[in-house]
Amino acid sequence: MQITIISGSKPAGRVEAVVIGVFEGDKGLPVASVLFSGLESKAVSKRLLEKEFKGGKGESLALRPEVAPSCEVIWIVGLGKREKFTVESARKLGGQVLRKAKAEKWTTVRVDGEEVFAAAGKDGVQAFFEGIRLADYKFDRYFSKKKNSNPAVHKIEFVLAEKADAASASAVLRTAETIAEGVILARDFANEPPNVIFPAAYAERIRKACVGTGVTCQILDEKKIQALGMGGIWNVGKGSERKPRLVVLEYAPKTASVKAPVVLVGKGVTFDTGGISLKPGKSMDEMKFDMSGSAAVVGAVITAAKLKLPVRVIGITPLAENMPDGAAQRPGDIITISNGKTVEVLNTDAEGRLILADALAYAERFKPRYVVDIATLTGACSSFFDHLASGLMSNDPELAAKLKAAGEKAGERLWELPLWDEYEDFIKGTYGDIQNISRRQAGTITAGMFLKHFGGHSKWAHLDVAGTAWGQAPREYSAAGATGVGVRLFVEFLRNGL
Ligand code: BES
Ligand code: MN
Ligand code: ZN
Repeated sequence: MQITIISGSKPAGRVEAVVIGVFEGDKGLPVASVLFSGLESKAVSKRLLEKEFKGGKGESLALRPEVAPSCEVIWIVGLGKREKFTVESARKLGGQVLRKAKAEKWTTVRVDGEEVFAAAGKDGVQAFFEGIRLADYKFDRYFSKKKNSNPAVHKIEFVLAEKADAASASAVLRTAETIAEGVILARDFANEPPNVIFPAAYAERIRKACVGTGVTCQILDEKKIQALGMGGIWNVGKGSERKPRLVVLEYAPKTASVKAPVVLVGKGVTFDTGGISLKPGKSMDEMKFDMSGSAAVVGAVITAAKLKLPVRVIGITPLAENMPDGAAQRPGDIITISNGKTVEVLNTDAEGRLILADALAYAERFKPRYVVDIATLTGACSSFFDHLASGLMSNDPELAAKLKAAGEKAGERLWELPLWDEYEDFIKGTYGDIQNISRRQAGTITAGMFLKHFGGHSKWAHLDVAGTAWGQAPREYSAAGATGVGVRLFVEFLRNGL
């Protein structure tokens, strides 16, 4: 699929469909002159009036052109109230357009870009392109016969009247496509089945993905992990035939104005059975997505490099498979994290925080500007927000505010939960320093409190993406399965400077 930007007078050539957005309360076709002759424009406006098209959100109308047709169908989409149209609305609109084109088997589509640009600016245009690319994604490599799917959309033209506007749209098109590639890389990793993506194999895939991007990739194997005293990663991973890894990525541009890097840490449990504290069978298959945080970190570091962002970024991702086995850790075990703290493992299903503990301790050696971890950490977080927000916890209000703002723009909303000192008692150990679960409520927060023991020496934030990392049903711009959550958020955060 090719997206092109066209400026100036009426574009030449026939397309199958023309898409025009109309805001609620606007009269007729405000900008149709970009796409149509005056005559044709008048005719369409008249028919919108006849059909009482209001431009409300969710409203849409397909018209057959009568006069001087440059297309087979004109699809009018209601955009709702102009003042409520955000960058994220533009992203959803992009997804809606692509899904409609596929459903209707349109292979060439011309979009009137004026309204998106006017209402949401060039960030909105970028998001619109992201929505198109992301909605086009599906994970179908394991079907032995390709499904007889609709023809692909070949060409999308995005039309703006002014040359200068078109130039800024062209600049953001490249950014949008690079970001979408990063999200898709993360989705691909997370959607892969757990017999394919296990720690060593996944680490190799990460290494391959880094080739030619300017990102360096270092893989620490289980011997190195033990030698470094990383009791969290080792004890979670040792019950599997497929031993754990720690992957460290670095993007260090010469242009970085601040030497201290941003360190991103991603939970990479390639499959989470719960271990000896075995999970119930229902939906256990979804625990192949338990490395979504890792995938987000890999996608974000590579995308930062491809966009040549002037920020040094380190990605740290501990990889382990949590299995029940004669060699697995037990509830009651006391283990030692690489920074010397001891943990009573009361539940082997609270494994994410154990591997993150070592990874966060490792982050410190980089003397980071900021540390942000991302993890499918607690079912409680998903119960709280469903898929509408990821949980945010932090020891630094300024960092939290920057992440929230980035999330808003990226369409990856964050909602902050408190790390009050009182919660510290909830995880105080009986026989060791801390325990890996709380016997009380507030499971998302107590997981955050646990991580604070390891990340809290830096300016640190924790993102719980248990509810946002994958979905059972398709959404505006994602198919069922992995969403790639975190990639757009991190890229936006890094792009805004520190
Ligand atoms: N990977 C899970 C969290 C999870 C569960 C994410 C369901 C998305 C959907 C994590 O390792 C886990 O098992 N957490 C436990 C913690 C509990 C034992 C304190 C949970 O949330 O039940
Ligand atoms: Mn678990
Ligand atoms: Zn887990």
